[in-house]
Amino acid sequence: MTSFKAYQIEQDDSGKAFGHMTRLTPDQLDEGEVTIRVHYSSVNYKDALAATGKGKIIRRFPCVGGIDMAGEVTESADPRFKPGDKVIATSFDIGVAHHGGYAELARVPGRWVVPLPAGLDLQAAMALGTAGFTAALGIVRMEDNGLAPENGPVVVTGATGGVGGLAIDMLSQRGYHVVALTGKDTEEDYLRMLGAAEVKLTSTIDLEKVRALDTGIWAGAVDNVGGPILHWVLAHMKQAGTVASIGNAASFKLDTTVFPFILRGVSLLGVDSGYMGFPTRQRVWDRLATDLKPRHLAEVTRVIDFDALPGCFDDFIGGRVKGRTVVKIAA
Ligand SMILES: NC(=O)c1ccc[n+]([C@@H]2O[C@H](COP(=O)([O-])OP(=O)(O)OC[C@H]3O[C@@H](n4cnc5c(N)ncnc54)[C@H](OP(=O)(O)O)[C@@H]3O)[C@@H](O)[C@H]2O)c1
Repeated sequence: MTSFKAYQIEQDDSGKAFGHMTRLTPDQLDEGEVTIRVHYSSVNYKDALAATGKGKIIRRFPCVGGIDMAGEVTESADPRFKPGDKVIATSFDIGVAHHGGYAELARVPGRWVVPLPAGLDLQAAMALGTAGFTAALGIVRMEDNGLAPENGPVVVTGATGGVGGLAIDMLSQRGYHVVALTGKDTEEDYLRMLGAAEVKLTSTIDLEKVRALDTGIWAGAVDNVGGPILHWVLAHMKQAGTVASIGNAASFKLDTTVFPFILRGVSLLGVDSGYMGFPTRQRVWDRLATDLKPRHLAEVTRVIDFDALPGCFDDFIGGRVKGRTVVKIAA
């Protein structure tokens, strides 16, 4: 391949990031042991922040965007991989400080690469992507800290998002009573289809008047939004409840009290998919291909062509997106 198509993020004179389609040559790839012909990538909230410059995500300009990729190895200096192997590479510096998945060709360090588990194809791997990996990691962390279906309901915030929808599906198939919290009043049927037993609208909560500690409702919580909603979630946790703090789609701030922690033994668990290493990374991917594999992956996923990528980011920033977006790069 003498040149290949890529969506590259650069900085304008004022320092603002912007993305555009371009062509690169293989000698412009970053260092790494494994070269991958990328078949699919995906769009996560973080990708939209990076591409639009709405968040300071990119740490090295120029940088090909896309924190997720799945494809076939074309060259490898890592003995674990050989040409033709199907692989997944997500997280670490990918699409942030190392050329990412929005390119027909990528080269990454071998320690960032996961063999595609049996039970997933490359498109399904990207329908999961960082969103699915993170939802699964949150559930693993909560269950490691005592969460079980008999403890009580689990609330999922930012429910119609990529992480939220996949978390609902995974939790409900494991027997949890899942309550979906959403800002969208049009998506009740969708959320019930995924497995939510109840759907609650954010507009029904008075976020100005959240008490430090209120009736204990939730045994577990997957929080994708942060801010006052996370404060509300914490105030309603049951004794020994577990909360997976995943995202900040509403706010990165958290103004709360210590009461849930010291009076109810609640655990606030941080979830960082980016730098979770092996063997946990492989274990979570293996579970995503088996017992945590969402039942409705196809229904939550839309597939877009590479050329449609630049036009899709604003809907993520505006909170208008539902489910997962897979980008067909060079399938
Ligand atoms: N910790 C990690 O390793 C990790 C990994 C992946 C993602 N994340 C973070 O997790 C969050 C979700 O990621 P995602 O890929 O699922 O994003 P997404 O697909 O864009 O979904 C985010 C959802 O949050 C809700 N939302 C958006 N803007 C909001 C606002 N201003 N106020 C309240 N709710 C709002 C919306 O759901 P409703 O309309 O249904 O409420 C939206 O669909 C993001 O903050 C992302 O950066 C973290």
